[in-house]
Parts: sequence; structure tokens; C-alpha cells
Amino acid sequence: MTLGADVLIPASDIQEKVREIGARINEDYWGKNPLLVGILRGAVVVLADLMRNVDLACEIDFMEVGSYGLGSTSSGIVRILKDLQEDISGRHVLIVEDIIDTGLTMSYLHDLLLTRKPASLESFVLLSKPSRRQVDIDVKYVGFEVPDVFVVGYGIDYAGAYRNLPDILALELESASE
Ligand code: IMP
Repeated sequence: MTLGADVLIPASDIQEKVREIGARINEDYWGKNPLLVGILRGAVVVLADLMRNVDLACEIDFMEVGSYGLGSTSSGIVRILKDLQEDISGRHVLIVEDIIDTGLTMSYLHDLLLTRKPASLESFVLLSKPSRRQVDIDVKYVGFEVPDVFVVGYGIDYAGAYRNLPDILALELESASE
């Protein structure tokens, strides 16, 4: 398989952005004990970096939801594959997600977690593709806005691969299947 890919966001820019957002979280949640909810599996890498820039007593938990499978377009169907272990009622919850694309996943998660009565509920996404949005959803912390390209690296996969790359790359899917 030929991988056609260009670096879209180098690792150094990602680290700088994560530090900057970590500093905002420190200010916004000062005196609080937020629960960072990483959405498996794509958010693992960014959550690990983000939490090390959060200088507060925070905790982490994880959820896994079904999204792309092996393809590259959203089915719009969200399935819970792994639920939280923590009771989030009365907690300050921050969802940590790799990408917001159509917004269907984030919108579903937001509505679901709100029913569990958190003290507050906000979200962080590393990447946003605004041109693809199908639902209007307010994301408090956005790392980078990207065009409608398929990206991999820094936790983000194509068919399970490339999560270990330190940079974010734009993948040319046509050449990837040659
Ligand atoms: P949404 O529900 O359409 O917003 O999709 C969000 C999820 O789709 C993300 O958490 C990713 O898992 C996946 N996704 C969206 N765009 C890409 C991409 O460019 N590369 C890899 N996964 C993507």
C-alpha cells in the first residue's frame, strides 16, 4: 500500500497548543476538581499530554463509542462500547475528543452525559472540521480548525493504523488504497 500523506500539523505545534489550552483549563477550573473524560481510542494521546499540562487535582475516565470502523465516512450511528466507571453527578466534566467532524458523536455524548447531572459539562477537541458539521454544538476548547481532509497521527487512526505518529498528517485515501 502506498501512503500519500503530508504533515498538516507538526508535533511541536501540537505541543504548544496543548500547553496553551492546559493553561486555560487551569484558569477556568481553578479551585475545582475536573474529571477529564477521554473518548477512546483517538483521544488517548492528546489526553495524556493535556492532563500533564493541567495543574489541578483532576481525574480521568474513559468512554468508547463506535464511529468509523474501517471506512472514512460517518455512519451517524453512535453506539456506547464502553461506559464511564465514575459517577459524574455533581462533577465538573470535560469531554476530551480527538476530532469533531459532523458533530454527531459529540452531540450524542453531550446529551447523554447531561442526563447524569454533572455540575458542569464542557468539551475539548484537538481538531475541528467546521465545513462538515451537521449539528450545531458549542465546543469550549478547540485545538485547530482543519479543512475537510482525512487526518491521521497523534492518536488518530485510519483502519487502526498510524496512531503512533507524532505529527498529524493529511492522508490521501486514494493513493492509500493503491
Ligand atoms: P463525528 O461524529 O462525525 O463528529 O465524528 C467524530 C469521530 O470521527 C472522531 O472522533 C474520529 O474518530 C472520527 N473521524 C472524523 N474525521 C476523521 C479523520 O479525518 N481521521 C480519522 N478519524 C476521523
